[in-house]
Amino acid sequence: MPPRSILAGIGAYLPERVVTNDELARTVDTTDAWIQERTGITQRHFAAPHETAAFMGTAAARAALADAGAQPSDVDGIIVATSTPDQAFPATALRVQAALGVTKGFGFDLAAACAGFVYALSVADAMIRSGQARGILVIGSEVYTRILNWQDRGTCVLFGDGAGAVFLTAGEGAGIDQGILSTHIHAQGTLGDILYVDGAVGQPDKPGHLVMHGREVFRHAVTRLAEAVEEALAANSLTPADIDWLVPHQANRRIIDAMGRKLGLAADRVVVTVDHHANTSAASVPLALAEAWKDGRIKRGDLVLLEALGGGLVWGSALVRI
Ligand code: UT7
Repeated sequence: MPPRSILAGIGAYLPERVVTNDELARTVDTTDAWIQERTGITQRHFAAPHETAAFMGTAAARAALADAGAQPSDVDGIIVATSTPDQAFPATALRVQAALGVTKGFGFDLAAACAGFVYALSVADAMIRSGQARGILVIGSEVYTRILNWQDRGTCVLFGDGAGAVFLTAGEGAGIDQGILSTHIHAQGTLGDILYVDGAVGQPDKPGHLVMHGREVFRHAVTRLAEAVEEALAANSLTPADIDWLVPHQANRRIIDAMGRKLGLAADRVVVTVDHHANTSAASVPLALAEAWKDGRIKRGDLVLLEALGGGLVWGSALVRI
């Protein structure tokens, strides 16, 4: 039997500064009522200049290692899911590696927008199952406030900053039922123009701002995520009744509620953080997971379904026995 990837520790970091809808409405042509009604968001965290993807990712990773009772020497590799790295290179993962004092193994960044954490979990899980590594930090860390167009009220009110991390370890032994049961990741590049950043360091004079055709993304999100949920359950011969917790990507309360209804899950079995974190892209799923883990809602033995969709389009799921 190949080893299972156990979520040995879970951690998070949020910038100190909280910005409410009312505060945003002082500089953006919007209202608290519109934002709450269309998205469920009431506030978000804004990174200070020193709170970069590497800084926040390091803090979340430290928390995940502490939660696992693990040391930097237990880390064989670091994957950071981010679309807002500190630098084109070295990878954010290597800045995290150095800050943690990890002196061996590999590190790289993974760009899959809001599905980045689920993508990174999938890659890390494959590496652990194949015996390439025994301890991998999987981090989602984002500073979307640095790529927002503050003249576009249709997008700038939707996002926030933060980081979440898990420390995956190889679990062995006959009949082990814990860990990542499955991951499924998908992409459809032909839909690249409905949610994108219009520049990057490789483009002349274009630092890049986020552009989104919200209604179209919404439509695809509901369909694709419903398919992803069905795919994860079918692959494990499970039914919605087996799921203890849904930890969805936190883009819009209406999409989250639709997924909860699809699974027939009571509202109190769906972890919702979009109201106080807004959309933190690749950080949203691990931040939500960390919150429900820390406050004791999610417990060892629970079956948890993670799902996310983002610009690309990219989407996927991970089914985990905590
Ligand atoms: O994380 C990656 C995945 N992302 C998503 O899943 C996001 C999916 N999309 C959405 O969540 C929603 O489409 C949004 C929240 C982005 C927008 O909600 P919507 O119900 O689709 O609104 P809309 O963009 O169609 O805009 C409706 C109206 C427009 O006015 P008119 O043309 O009807 O007069 C907008 O100009 O709301 C107006 N509007 C605003 N009004 C006040 C757009 N943004 C704002 C705003 N404040 N911030």
